[in-house]
Amino acid sequence: MRSADQPDGPCVQVRVPAKINLFLAVRGVRDDGYHELITVFQTVSVFDRLRVGVYGPPGRGHHPAARRRMRVQLLDGEAAGLPQAEHNLAMRAARVLADHAGIATAATDAPRAVGQSDPRTVLELTKGIPIAGGMAGGSADAAAALVALNELWGCALPREDLRELGADLGSDVPFCVVGGTALASGRGTAVAQVLCRGSFDWVVATSDQPLATADVYSRWDADCVPTEIEPDAVLAALRARDAEALGAALHNDLEPAAFALRPELAAAKAAMLEAGALGAVLSGSGPTMLALADSPVSAARIAAAVREGFDGVQVATSPAGGPDIRPC
Ligand code: C5P
Repeated sequence: MRSADQPDGPCVQVRVPAKINLFLAVRGVRDDGYHELITVFQTVSVFDRLRVGVYGPPGRGHHPAARRRMRVQLLDGEAAGLPQAEHNLAMRAARVLADHAGIATAATDAPRAVGQSDPRTVLELTKGIPIAGGMAGGSADAAAALVALNELWGCALPREDLRELGADLGSDVPFCVVGGTALASGRGTAVAQVLCRGSFDWVVATSDQPLATADVYSRWDADCVPTEIEPDAVLAALRARDAEALGAALHNDLEPAAFALRPELAAAKAAMLEAGALGAVLSGSGPTMLALADSPVSAARIAAAVREGFDGVQVATSPAGGPDIRPC
C-alpha cells in the first residue's frame, strides 16, 4: 500500500474481520429482487485494516464542527481487483456518513468542488480479506469506514445508526459493523447477536478467480428452489461449544449454484472432508471454501493436505470480534 505522510490532524485506525456464514438458507426471491435469507454470520480472524486521517492546513477544519467541506481520497491501488474511487465501498460509506452528518464531500478527482485549503480525509486500506471471495471483504471495508469516520469526524452516531446506514451499502455491512456471531434474516440485514461459547478452528481456502455474488444468486434462480431448513442445529452447537456438531450442521443453500459455476469447488469440499475436516462449506457466495477442524493442529494438517487445490490456504479462528478502533 502507498503510505500517506503523517496526517496534519486527527487519525484513527480500524482492524475489521472477515465474515463467514455457518448456515445460509435461501427462502425465495423478494419483490425487490434480493433473496430472502436465514443466515448465521460469524467473524473470522482474517482482517482488513483501514487508517483514516485528516490532512490540510492546521487550525482550519480540524475541529469537527469546522469540517463543513471535506475532500475524501482513497489510497491503495496495489490490491489487484479492488474497486477504486467512488466504486469502492469504503469510499461510498464515507459519502453516506458525510451526507448523514451534514458534511459536504468531494472525491479528490473532482478537486474544484471544494477549495484546495479545505481539509482532506485520506482513507488508507490494507487488504487481508480476499476480494469477491464470499467473506464480505467490501462490506467489512464499508463497516470499517463507517466506524472510523464516525470517530474521526466526531459524528457520535451509535452503532445502531451505523448499521442502518450500512444496509444501503451492502447486505453484509450491518453485521460487519458489529461482528461477533449473529442470526440474520431478510436480505441479511436484520441482525441479532446470538450466543457462541469458545472459539473454532478453520482452514480458509481461497481462489484468485473471484465469483460475483449476483452471478451466484442468478444461478440459484435458474437451478434451485427455496428450502425450509432451519439453523437450530448450528445455534445449538455454538451454544454448546461443540465443534463436531457444528461441523455436521454447516449448511449453505448457495453451494449447488456456486458449484455449477465452479465445478472444482465440489471436489475441493470433498478433499477437505477426506483430509479430516469436521465439516466443510462454501463461504457466502464463494469461491472461498471453509473447513472446520477439531484443533489448531488439525487445522494446520488439513491446510497442508488441501493446499495444492487452492490459490491460498490459511488457518484462522472464529469468532473474531468486530471492528477494533486504535489510535494511529
Ligand atoms: O447487497 P449486496 O450488494 O452485497 O448484494 C450483491 C448482489 O447479491 C445483489 O445485487 C443481488 O444480486 C445478490 N443478493 C441477493 N439477495 C441477498 C443478498 C445479495 O440476491 N439477500
